Amino acid sequence: MEYLHINGGRELNGSVNVHGAKNSVLPILAATLLVDGVCEIKNCPHLSDVDVTIDILRHLGAVVAFDEDVITVDSTQITDCRIPEGMMKELRSSIIFLGALAARMGNACLYLPGGCDIGLRPIDLHLKGLQALGYATTTDGNNICAESVSPRGTEIVLPFPSVGATENIILASVLTPGTTTIINAAREPEIEDLARFLNSAGARIRGALTTVIQIDGVESLHSTAHTVIPDRILATTLMSAVAATGGDVFLNNVSPTQLMPTLPAFQEMGVTVFVGKSTVRTTGNGRLRRVKSIDTRPYPGFPTDAQAPVMAALTVARGTSVIKENIFENRFRHVSQLSLFGADITVKDRIAIVNGVRHLYGTEARCTDLRGGAAVVIAALIADGESVIRDIGHIDRGYENLEYRLSLLDADVKRICNEEK
Ligand code: UD1
Repeated sequence: MEYLHINGGRELNGSVNVHGAKNSVLPILAATLLVDGVCEIKNCPHLSDVDVTIDILRHLGAVVAFDEDVITVDSTQITDCRIPEGMMKELRSSIIFLGALAARMGNACLYLPGGCDIGLRPIDLHLKGLQALGYATTTDGNNICAESVSPRGTEIVLPFPSVGATENIILASVLTPGTTTIINAAREPEIEDLARFLNSAGARIRGALTTVIQIDGVESLHSTAHTVIPDRILATTLMSAVAATGGDVFLNNVSPTQLMPTLPAFQEMGVTVFVGKSTVRTTGNGRLRRVKSIDTRPYPGFPTDAQAPVMAALTVARGTSVIKENIFENRFRHVSQLSLFGADITVKDRIAIVNGVRHLYGTEARCTDLRGGAAVVIAALIADGESVIRDIGHIDRGYENLEYRLSLLDADVKRICNEEK
């Protein structure tokens, strides 16, 4: 059992690099299945979700190497079209393999990923998209299968701009004859990154970052190299920590424009943010001010993934902040853990009311999910005294060596291993 031991109440100072985006690298790795050749993916973070994705690719027959921050995938010989329960359950976003594998092999069967700790995560939009493209989808209650029956480009209107559904439709249509148009597509930067990767391999995708994405099917994709965009959620997490603890931190290797949806909240908190070409400097200015209202929305709205880390900072702001979670129905599980530190938060349905307190106090708490876990770490950094954070496997899914990055910023954080428990 590993846990984090944090001695809180210290300012964060210094400079740190932001690693590549988890939510980019996972669909890009799935997309390598479509490539007849070798893909070199740079700026990949070492995350447990990435390790599981690599295991899935190897299980399917790909040859994969991960050296420093470069993953090389040779998908020339794909031998399997099924992904078993163990692997699917390890990775909640594994449904992204459905479109890619079905397009590559003609059919694919994945164990159903099921619900997760932030909500049900239905896949109806993924399936409707694949069906419109000419795939027959079936389920036996445990597995979801897609078979290419009469693949052809078509127009698909998404009732909600789902990130995963947009990605699955792109992956299923890149090699499909004709033109596919996705209307009300998700506009997250990670979708543009996926499109840039695929286009570098010979795909013809237009309009990523807009609500209408068009894909002209091509016959095959060729070897390529690609650099993954920086992780905007890691950047926001670190900015939230500095905002609350005070200090002065440079983040390197960021895409400032991708942080725009969260910058107004930091400004409202009274934090100074200087934006460079690929850097962001965050300086705390004493006690934070409340943020009147945060509403999570699809990009370019405030990201649901940043809700928990920003909430952790607001626990010590002056005044009352109101946070509404519009994307996932069960994304306030971290609130019970923040309360253990002395935070004053009330939740009603999808709204959290955060009454800022002067101090948090060290305690023992656990990570409830990936971003909620980051919020708990921020609370421990703010808190006076010592804290122990358990269930840190959630954090390792999306933050590479978070304790090391925080240590570079003068935080007193240690990962303790081999505790008998
Ligand atoms: C992705 C991100 C996740 C982020 C989320 C929203 C990855 C690996 N994960 O998740 O970190 O929090 O985008 O920015 O990139 N929905 C349906 N039917 C569907 C699909 C989705 O009803 O078929 C609903 C979901 O229940 C949810 C909403 O749409 O309420 C958003 O989901 P979606 O955008 O699909 O998120 P993910 O792709 O799962």
